Amino acid sequence: PVLSALELGGVKIARDDVVRDDPTNNVPDSIFSKLGMQLHKRNQHPIGILKNAIYEYFDANYSNKFDKFDDLCPLVSVKQNFDDVLVPADHISRSYNDTYYVDSQTVLRCHTSAHQAELLRDGHTHFLVTGDVYRRDSIDSTHYPVFHQVFVASHYLQPPNFFFLGFFLRFWSIHSYTLLLEMQMEGFRVFSPEEWEASGLDGTSYAAGDLKKCLEGLARHLFGAVEMRWIDAYFPFTNPSFELEIYFQEKWMEVLGCGVTEQEILRNNGQLDSVAWAFGLGLERLAMVLFDIPDIRLFWSNDERFTSQFTKGKMGIKFKPFSKFPPCFKDMSFWINESFTENNLCEVVRGVAGDLAEEVQLIDNFTNKKGMTSHCYRIAYRSMECSLTDEEINELQRKVREQVETKLNVELR
Ligand code: PHE
Repeated sequence: PVLSALELGGVKIARDDVVRDDPTNNVPDSIFSKLGMQLHKRNQHPIGILKNAIYEYFDANYSNKFDKFDDLCPLVSVKQNFDDVLVPADHISRSYNDTYYVDSQTVLRCHTSAHQAELLRDGHTHFLVTGDVYRRDSIDSTHYPVFHQVFVASHYLQPPNFFFLGFFLRFWSIHSYTLLLEMQMEGFRVFSPEEWEASGLDGTSYAAGDLKKCLEGLARHLFGAVEMRWIDAYFPFTNPSFELEIYFQEKWMEVLGCGVTEQEILRNNGQLDSVAWAFGLGLERLAMVLFDIPDIRLFWSNDERFTSQFTKGKMGIKFKPFSKFPPCFKDMSFWINESFTENNLCEVVRGVAGDLAEEVQLIDNFTNKKGMTSHCYRIAYRSMECSLTDEEINELQRKVREQVETKLNVELR
């Protein structure tokens, strides 16, 4: 059953404000029902346990310098979500295919970066924002249209203009030599203006180094040893930008994006003469690796055989699967039209099957002589909690076929 209203971060939200049958809205009931679940605030849930471990790292290494926000409302303006963090007008993340729009000016935030500008304007310089974020996406074991992100930003003032003079004077002194050595040995230190001056680096390079040290320290705090690699990346709000990937289930998996904050964002929000770095980390992906959770849908399970396996404050626990029920595969083929997208198909499948849909995979794709393109998708149905009967699955598949035809206007084959 879908709630009709809820309150989030002091904002009252009614279902009819979020889910409407009008072309400027693409939020289905299944998404509305996730608002207010706030898995990141459950101390006995892997998402909450991981968030707490990340907070612990920052509190311990930065002596409680970071302000924490866990309760900011996920309904934000297009300006907050995109404009304020310099996402270009034609960026794909703005499309109705990728983002949930409540109306043309309001979205369900697709990243917790959406709060960066307002927090800066309110005078915060070091902060952690955790919340649920929403993205229209494909269906498989590591993608879900709602997940949780921690956004972290750290700002510091540029040293004054005698920076370079200071650098040359200090360069030859034993003092600066030991400082640099310490930096390399410890790998990670709390920011200090003296250290920065001694390093002789410009603001951007210093911040990038500080950021990587902070994140490598965080990765060691969470994982101990794990295979990871840095990839050069692009984000509109940072430059340079990087992604951190971790090796999991025989694949490299992206777990966070980060970089040195664009000066324009700082200047627009009252931070002159400062340098900042920021990162956004997806909690589900990391938690899957850390707790051995094989499928992202499990985080939403209320089955006691899942929920009872985790303990507040305990990171080392490995999830023990409670019998795996067999998947059932169903194929469907149709002629697509110009407006067809895989995300739209997945929305239909989730609307019918919810968390029983495990994967939607394109298995065949061809264009005939008349220029018509046919796609064949294989849908895997599987419950995490019980065995599904043939009748149940046939009924799901029948509804999916019906809705694919009516809602997506494609021609079934
Ligand atoms: N907002 C980015 C994302 O959701 C992550 C990010 C945050 C990247 C901060 C750089 C800096 O993918």
